[in-house]
Amino acid sequence: MEMLIRRGFLWQSFEIYGGMAGFIDYAPLGNNLRRKIENIWREFFVIGERVAEIDTPLIGVEEVFIASGHATSFVDTAIECQKCGRVYRADHYVKEKLNLEVDASIDAIKEVMEVYELKCECGGNFGEPFPMNLMFSTKIGAGKGKLGYLRPETAQGIFVAFRRLSNYFRDKLPFGVAQIGRAFRNEISPRQGVIRLREFNQAELEFFVHPAEKKHPKFVELEKDTLTLVDKFDKTHRITLKEAVEKGIIANEVLAYFIGKTRRFLLSIGINDDKLRFRQHKDDEKAHYATDCWDAEALMSYGWIEIVGIADRTNYDLSRHANFSKVDMSVFIPYSAPVVVKKKKAIPKMSALGPVFKAKAKKIAEALEKVEVNSDEIEVEVDGEKIKLGKEFYTIQEVEEEVSGERIVPHVIEPSFGLDRITYTVLEHSFDKDIVEGEERKVLRLKRKVAPIEVAVLPLLSREPFTIKALEIVDLLRKSGFYTDYDDSGSIGRRYRRFDEIGTPFCITVDHQTFEDETVTIRDRDTTKQVRVKISELERVLKDLIRSDRSIEEFGEIFR
Ligand code: ATP
Ligand code: GLY
Repeated sequence: MEMLIRRGFLWQSFEIYGGMAGFIDYAPLGNNLRRKIENIWREFFVIGERVAEIDTPLIGVEEVFIASGHATSFVDTAIECQKCGRVYRADHYVKEKLNLEVDASIDAIKEVMEVYELKCECGGNFGEPFPMNLMFSTKIGAGKGKLGYLRPETAQGIFVAFRRLSNYFRDKLPFGVAQIGRAFRNEISPRQGVIRLREFNQAELEFFVHPAEKKHPKFVELEKDTLTLVDKFDKTHRITLKEAVEKGIIANEVLAYFIGKTRRFLLSIGINDDKLRFRQHKDDEKAHYATDCWDAEALMSYGWIEIVGIADRTNYDLSRHANFSKVDMSVFIPYSAPVVVKKKKAIPKMSALGPVFKAKAKKIAEALEKVEVNSDEIEVEVDGEKIKLGKEFYTIQEVEEEVSGERIVPHVIEPSFGLDRITYTVLEHSFDKDIVEGEERKVLRLKRKVAPIEVAVLPLLSREPFTIKALEIVDLLRKSGFYTDYDDSGSIGRRYRRFDEIGTPFCITVDHQTFEDETVTIRDRDTTKQVRVKISELERVLKDLIRSDRSIEEFGEIFR
């Protein structure tokens, strides 16, 4: 963290006013790094799939979160010290002080508090545990206005727009919709640096599938990948995705596909496979909308931390929004060929309906004709009124009907990525120390494609004509689209170390020979080896190197 702050990756927000826990600024290097990770996510989860990306408001009207269940269920249990007034998230405090995993319900916390006589760090007693909703509320408009909330996940913007999205995809499943953007949670006591923020960045994908066909067309591409799974009984498996599905460890192919795809994405941006596992939620751990969930967890200085949640949300969200908004969220799925089905239809008896229902009888008869009979009592709705009809009002006829398809409410598999935690994990997993020329150096072994500064241009000596030539090269590289920096202060060795520390994969040096044959040196961060290339070749060589893992030796003769 000291390096990240000093070198311009992350800063405390509102620092000059004392800061506020749970808020960070992305400084120039951190911002570049996160944006690059975001773009690679886009390549993996949007461009490479039948997935569209949308962008919806950060503030949602109250109705959205009543329907989604967040207004009532998105709560943590808090405990407040009666002596010093500090408030803690109860389950985290119990874990930290007693090393106990406890479910976060008020009753469970109460029991632990009593049994273990839990005290505050200051020695004070806690009051009764209480629930706290994690959403930030706000008022939309003037005067009394309207209640709104800052979104706690980007996902709801997608569910709410489902009707239009489904039309966009010509009502053909499966399809996915992604959203990258800010989410807000009024976390009770964020004390883990960048791990628990109150304003953070999510990249979410909602993948809509037929409930009876939880298969992914591209599962074969990943099925042989071997990974570490920890199931809900805490059993660890080192297993291929295919075996995990066959043995029922992962419930379906779509979940397995996104677990595999998530792993490939995380490895591609530099997360270490040995420090990555997928852990299934226990039954009492799942969010209110999920029937199954696997977290990608990374091992870092804070222990194993969730960085991605991959949940089976079934049709929970779409059904709830359909109920609350009264808008149909189903999709018509045509059969490959029409099928003939037998149905029981009600034939209205006007002679019985007329005398009882008078003017309404005709409308009731029309409603009856549309009803499929499944029980002895039929209920119809006429002008908003629900009317129960006994057998005396109709006769039953069995008819054969040709049915061309069915209406279903799709299920959703959701990989939800926390970009801040992922960015931080990449930094921790890339941080390294080694010995170069007898001295310890700190080096950030970032993957070339995510490095915030891709190339640094250094004049060997800090005077003309070296500086002028180096600045010309800076200009050339910036015009070609490379994130380029320039440094002429201090010895060349110190300058190399500075760029090693921020993970710059290549340093270009202008030296005496540059003026003889229009060549410069390229130094590789990881090996510290150098090759000499023509300035006219620089753009092509750097493009090749940054896009690949190729060694600089392929581009010239190593001279140190
Ligand atoms: P935790 O149990 O650590 O609070 P969560 O289970 O609430 O996390 P999810 O609701 O599954 O997290 O959110 C999806 C992803 O969003 C997480 O995997 C994580 O990377 C990220 N995330 C969630 N809460 C925060 C937060 N307060 N700060 C930063 N990232 C977060
Ligand atoms: N969309 C999942 C989550 O934020 O928890």
